[in-house]
Amino acid sequence: MMPTVDGLELCRQLRLQEATRTVPVLFLTAKDDLADKIKGFQAGGDDYITKPFIISELLARLQAHLRIQRLKRELALSEERYRLLIENSPDGILLLSPQLELLYHNNRFIEILKGQTQEPLTGRVLQTLFPISDLFCEISAIVERVKAAGGPAMKEAQITASNHRTVYLEVLGMPIRIRPDQVAMFQVVFRDITQRKRMEEALLQAEKINALGILTAGIAHEINNPLTGISNAIQILQRGNVARKRQDELFALVLDHIERIVRIVKDLRTFSQPHESTPALFSANEAVAEMVSLARYQVGRAKIDLETRPSPEPLFLFGDRHQFQQVILNLVVNAIQAIKETGKVTVSLQRQGGNVLITVEDTGMGIPANQMTRIFDPFFTTKRDWKGTGLGLAVAYRIVQLFKGTLTVQSTVGVGSRFMVTLPLHPPPPGGQGST
Ligand SMILES: Nc1ncnc2c1ncn2[C@@H]1O[C@H](COP(=O)(O)OP(=O)(O)O)[C@@H](O)[C@H]1O
Ligand SMILES: [Mg+2]
Repeated sequence: MMPTVDGLELCRQLRLQEATRTVPVLFLTAKDDLADKIKGFQAGGDDYITKPFIISELLARLQAHLRIQRLKRELALSEERYRLLIENSPDGILLLSPQLELLYHNNRFIEILKGQTQEPLTGRVLQTLFPISDLFCEISAIVERVKAAGGPAMKEAQITASNHRTVYLEVLGMPIRIRPDQVAMFQVVFRDITQRKRMEEALLQAEKINALGILTAGIAHEINNPLTGISNAIQILQRGNVARKRQDELFALVLDHIERIVRIVKDLRTFSQPHESTPALFSANEAVAEMVSLARYQVGRAKIDLETRPSPEPLFLFGDRHQFQQVILNLVVNAIQAIKETGKVTVSLQRQGGNVLITVEDTGMGIPANQMTRIFDPFFTTKRDWKGTGLGLAVAYRIVQLFKGTLTVQSTVGVGSRFMVTLPLHPPPPGGQGST
């Protein structure tokens, strides 16, 4: 009953404008039949008071509306904050219904897809998205695991980016429950771990070069001896006047020495060649034997007895053979370095249920109790003369983790140390008799 514009119309106009859309509107009117009240609410009103009214009731209602308004504003703000947080997350985040319908994904997920699609994705069932990218198959796989485990699950995945580089992703899945026995949604998170992977690879590579560096002195020495022999023999032959029988002896000696050098170079090559880190099946005994023969050059003239005790039965591991060998080499080199003058290093393999137990034992100086927790830390070293980088055990530990195994140590100062590696065994290759 207001002049020019009536209350209902004014309320409608307030609701139409962005700036006033959320302002609470309270009708205060003499029109008190039900139809009028409903019209008021339909126009967008929040409350309706009819005359005659009591002032204290009006005030109470205003207060209630102001409180609701404040809560609404806080809620919107908090929603906005969470939305920004999720949209700007460095991780790709998705929500799926229990029927595997894609309910939500943030922008980052689209970036990870690297423009492989312009289509809208939400509202679609996961299977229908498989043709767009392998990532959707990964999502399906992780959700299966979450279902099986009834809890969070994690896996790693790789995709090829548009520039043909490999992107490594960590895929995390978890159930979101409203009640303990009911999964309301599945949340899947993609984290780009390419940089971490590359750093790790670089670290492993650097430590391999370091281990090879330590070996070089021993190897150079081993090659020098036969070279000196060859050189002497040739000099004698050059002078002439050598009896036929003596000549033959010298030639045989030269060939012998050459063979030795060839063997040394071959030993070194098995480990130093760059390689693809593709996991494969390999024999633990063979891989250990190769590393021990390489470490043997390190012993040189020292009175160190280096013994290998292979397991009687063939044991197969699955993974990156070079990385496994690096663990053995790091442990054996440490064992040799722990011995001052004379002593013994024993490397043994044995089966323990579904695992292989590899022990590297030395009769060296041992490790003081207060250093036991620190020896696996990167850069912890007690080797003063720059021989140590302190990375050997840290790298060994990481590789053993990649193999899903364990690395433990026992040590007594003045008596020696024992490093124990357990790794899960893999069934032997079909049909192969398997060498030990
Ligand atoms: N077999 C061992 N006997 C005694 N001490 C050891 C042995 N293996 C490792 N350590 C101790 O652990 C430290 C860290 O080893 P590592 O990570 O291989 O680094 P680095 O050999 O370069 O010092 C060594 O400096 C040494 O103090
Ligand atoms: Mg070391």
